[in-house]
Amino acid sequence: MSLHGSSSPVLPLLVFSLLLLSPPGTLAGGDGGPPSKPIVTPISKDGSTSLYTIPVKGGAPLVLDLAGPLVWSPCQPGHRTVPCKSSVCTVANRNHPASCASTGAGQPGSPDPSCACTAYPYNPASGQCGSGDLTRTPLSANGTDGRNPLFPVSFPAYASCAPDGLLASLPSGAAGVAGLSRQPLSLPSQVASRLKVAKQFALCLPGVAIFGGGPFELQAAPPMELAEGLREKVVPLLVNPKNKGAYYIRVHGVAVNQAQVPVPAGAFDLDRRQGTGGVVLSTVTRYTTLRSDIFSPLINAFDAATSGIPRRKPMPPYDLCYEASAFVSTRVGPGVANIDLMLDGGRTWTLPGASSLVQVDERTLCFAFQNMGFGATVTNSPAVIIGTHQMEDNLVLFDLEKGTVGISGLLLGLRTTCSNFNFAMGSS
Ligand SMILES: *[C@@H]1O[C@H](CO)[C@@H](O)[C@H](O)[C@H]1NC(C)=O
Repeated sequence: MSLHGSSSPVLPLLVFSLLLLSPPGTLAGGDGGPPSKPIVTPISKDGSTSLYTIPVKGGAPLVLDLAGPLVWSPCQPGHRTVPCKSSVCTVANRNHPASCASTGAGQPGSPDPSCACTAYPYNPASGQCGSGDLTRTPLSANGTDGRNPLFPVSFPAYASCAPDGLLASLPSGAAGVAGLSRQPLSLPSQVASRLKVAKQFALCLPGVAIFGGGPFELQAAPPMELAEGLREKVVPLLVNPKNKGAYYIRVHGVAVNQAQVPVPAGAFDLDRRQGTGGVVLSTVTRYTTLRSDIFSPLINAFDAATSGIPRRKPMPPYDLCYEASAFVSTRVGPGVANIDLMLDGGRTWTLPGASSLVQVDERTLCFAFQNMGFGATVTNSPAVIIGTHQMEDNLVLFDLEKGTVGISGLLLGLRTTCSNFNFAMGSS
């Protein structure tokens, strides 16, 4: 899908005005500009919502949403619009959220030259959607060699305007959402087409994201490049035809302390016809959430494997809690039975104590997984939503071109963390 097919005269004008406004060397990827590099941006975690943001909208933070098809943010009066007849208007409307009523205005394909394209932004935290003009907005970050930021980069991106009210439930100060899905108007897709870099991104929560491929180095003694090795260990992404942009992976089973947990046959399978089941990665779900038929045997197995550890009263929403002082502390968190997710190609994703338990108060550690209930009949309901507590301090490499994902496992095991990217300006 080419974004360059748009016949809109806005783009050359906007690039031209950005060139005039920018000091030399700040606009990568354009003709005659410096060579294209991937871009890097810090990822912050919001304490009260546990959502993650990147400051790419002129320093204002956008919330990361792995399944989101669009970038959206409220607009200023007088913002640019995009003609309904442009191909990008069709693309922006291809992933209309099911719950979102159409306004009837600004529909793609209208030949009316004064028709401004409408898009339907979705708030993944509140489940609300709204409508707004499709617009173009400058985004900014730094070019990178995977080790340091090198030079500021600004580029125009298609984004949807949104009513101010749609910001409800997002971190205070958030200016909108950055969709990271596989769809053509997501942030990684637009970075790839604008900056002529690989359609890949590296996510390391909370700490750093790199869009555009290349190396990924964290400070450690000595510094460690992690992307090259991880690209050899990727697994295929699955496509859910009912939720095409989201990142589904195949899970064959789950083990606790090396023993396979007895879940019903096919429990993890994605039903492509219904769009239900399957295992999906989410940046807007805090704890990995499992359908009851998987959650119950998993928590029972973990309960049994930790039977010698003194308990505390369960603290809702946590079902299983422990006396924190009963654990030895290890490099990978409280010393406890590992949980292994069995992926394709014999790969496993190991969740040690730091990933499987959460410190709830000074005296209490709890099992950091939640019961979805019986959601299988609900539209699009996955079997497992892998949440951010389990993704934190893992490097996760998404390749949208090849349709693969690589998951490093807990970086604490390598004596580093996602907050160890060197954000000191380097030199190119
Ligand atoms: C580029 O990196 C520097 C150093 O970390 C930072 O101060 C600056 O805000 C970054 N610029 C953008 C546009 O992200």
